[in-house]
Amino acid sequence: MNHLEEAAGLLKQGELVAIPTETVYGLAANAFNEEAVLKIYKTKNRPHFNPLIIHSNSVERFEEWGIFLPEFALKLASHFSPGPITFVVPTSNKIPDMVTAGHNSVAIRIPNHPITLELLSMLDFPLAAPSANPSTFVSPTSASHVKQQLGNKIKCILDGGNCEVGIESTILSFLENTPRILRYGGLAKEQIEKILGIKVNVPQVNGDTSKIIAPGMIERHYAPNKKLIISSDFEKEIMNHQRMTIGSISFSTNYKNIDYKNQFILSESGNLDEAARHLFSALRSLNELNIDIILAENFPDEGLGIAINDRLKRASVQ
Ligand code: TXA
Ligand code: MG
Repeated sequence: MNHLEEAAGLLKQGELVAIPTETVYGLAANAFNEEAVLKIYKTKNRPHFNPLIIHSNSVERFEEWGIFLPEFALKLASHFSPGPITFVVPTSNKIPDMVTAGHNSVAIRIPNHPITLELLSMLDFPLAAPSANPSTFVSPTSASHVKQQLGNKIKCILDGGNCEVGIESTILSFLENTPRILRYGGLAKEQIEKILGIKVNVPQVNGDTSKIIAPGMIERHYAPNKKLIISSDFEKEIMNHQRMTIGSISFSTNYKNIDYKNQFILSESGNLDEAARHLFSALRSLNELNIDIILAENFPDEGLGIAINDRLKRASVQ
């Protein structure tokens, strides 16, 4: 029996399997099996009010399950799915409340990873899958990240290498007339707007931009266990924290006042896609290092820089 058959067998029995995707690794269960879905919440220690994304390998299969994409969503799916985009659309009575947390909408995604696409084609149910990390911690972008934290709780981790995108999918809601971004992620807003030919709405905020009003958009998230400060003036922060050992996340700059081994330069050539790919593994490594605080730069507010800034902001919430 190969790994995929073993994984499919476990999923059919209501067990959890960690799956690779192009964004981050997911912790998957049969979305039609409430007991299996409950295991996801328990294993991650995830609050029950935070709904899950369901995954399959084609738009047609979602339609068979009574989930239909409106026109804008279909247009985006034809360009970007499989890929790092999630569609929030009206739910179907086939989807348990455990998945949607009782909302009348459901989040669906076609992930772009050959192993997981093959697995999905072997199953006659969608996979509910949040990122495979304990709730509020940094998302995993390799099989070893999953193993470190959840290895003793799950029976099977499919190893699909390092995630190519490295940051979660962009979530768009199609419940209003104009599509609205609920979470910035691996597909840039500019690319979405180019295909649709209109401006999309952005996350609703309540004064404080770290508080996004959408189900489950938890304020503190992606968080290492160390204090993280976002700053556009590293020299000043270094002066202010002279007695502390500093670790850093920068776009392309090397800071001579910070020990090189504690510095994570996400893209020496200044490429935001590459920076996104390296962000979560840098946060994990910084978490393990013998440092007191983490300084992170403000990234350019364009392309995947918007998603990087969003994750850093949440990681900085105390
Ligand atoms: O890239 C990704 O999206 C990864 C991979 C594994 O597919 N998954 C992921 O799942 O990031 P998770 O559970 O960590 O984040 C899903 C987000 C949550 O913030 C949740 O609140 C939101 O999706 N969500 C799920 N269903 C929703 C709904 N019906 N309406 C609004 N937001 C929803
Ligand atoms: Mg997550």
